[in-house]
Amino acid sequence: FQKGEVSQPAAGLRFTITAGPTQEPLDPVRYLSNHSSGKMGYALAAAAAELGAEVQLISGPVNLAIPAGVNGTQVTTAKQMLEACESRRSTTDIFIACAAVADYRAATPADQKIKKQANQDELVLKLVKNPDILANMAKATTDKNNPRPFCVGFAAETQQVEDYAQDKLLRKNLDAIVANDVSDNSIGFGSDENRVILFTQHKQTIQREALPQGSKLALGRQLIEKLLAFYKEQKT
Ligand code: CTP
Ligand code: CA
Repeated sequence: FQKGEVSQPAAGLRFTITAGPTQEPLDPVRYLSNHSSGKMGYALAAAAAELGAEVQLISGPVNLAIPAGVNGTQVTTAKQMLEACESRRSTTDIFIACAAVADYRAATPADQKIKKQANQDELVLKLVKNPDILANMAKATTDKNNPRPFCVGFAAETQQVEDYAQDKLLRKNLDAIVANDVSDNSIGFGSDENRVILFTQHKQTIQREALPQGSKLALGRQLIEKLLAFYKEQKT
């Protein structure tokens, strides 16, 4: 449906959504990354825009078009994604971290292509931890000029999915987290379908809701509607 044709429950709300992988350079021709396709984040951005929100999508490298009505910013590394998100912190009502951010980057990316050494059968790479974009956005602040947005995370897990997701929800001080079992190849990374569990938190009390398996587009709409309802409940 088009803007204006239906009610616009997200009108006046500003969303910032991260999507896709990050790429961390090892040298000018190589990088560390992961299999995130960006589909879930792009579907969330499209759904929020359809409901009338002002949406900024901050995306790592993916093969997807920016959805209609969405503003896109392309980034490559976790550091660039962090800068793009932080510059929007004070003007974001709802922040959704859907990106699969590389947890580590090369300590010192090489200026020139790393050459294969004839006498070396092993290569040891030194990696350092990337900043946690979501935890930074969700940090409590008393600064009125830089208020904390309502923060939503994704937890991609291959085991103990629900426990790890709830742990992240509390540890990163989030309002909600979407738990995603990426060990099942028919859903999750790369797939057009997904099956998720939504956990919301208010004052350390967690509520759980399992959503039926569906296309990432359909799930994106459902998630935005549920998150919007929870956001509005918090505000009143
Ligand atoms: N995230 C982030 N910045 C990072 C790492 C993660 O913003 N440097 C966000 C992701 O976008 C996601 C959430 O944090 O919304 C959880 O990501 P995940 O990789 O599942 O958790 P981690 O905290 O990185 O822990 P681990 O990978 O060890 O499970
Ligand atoms: Ca991670």
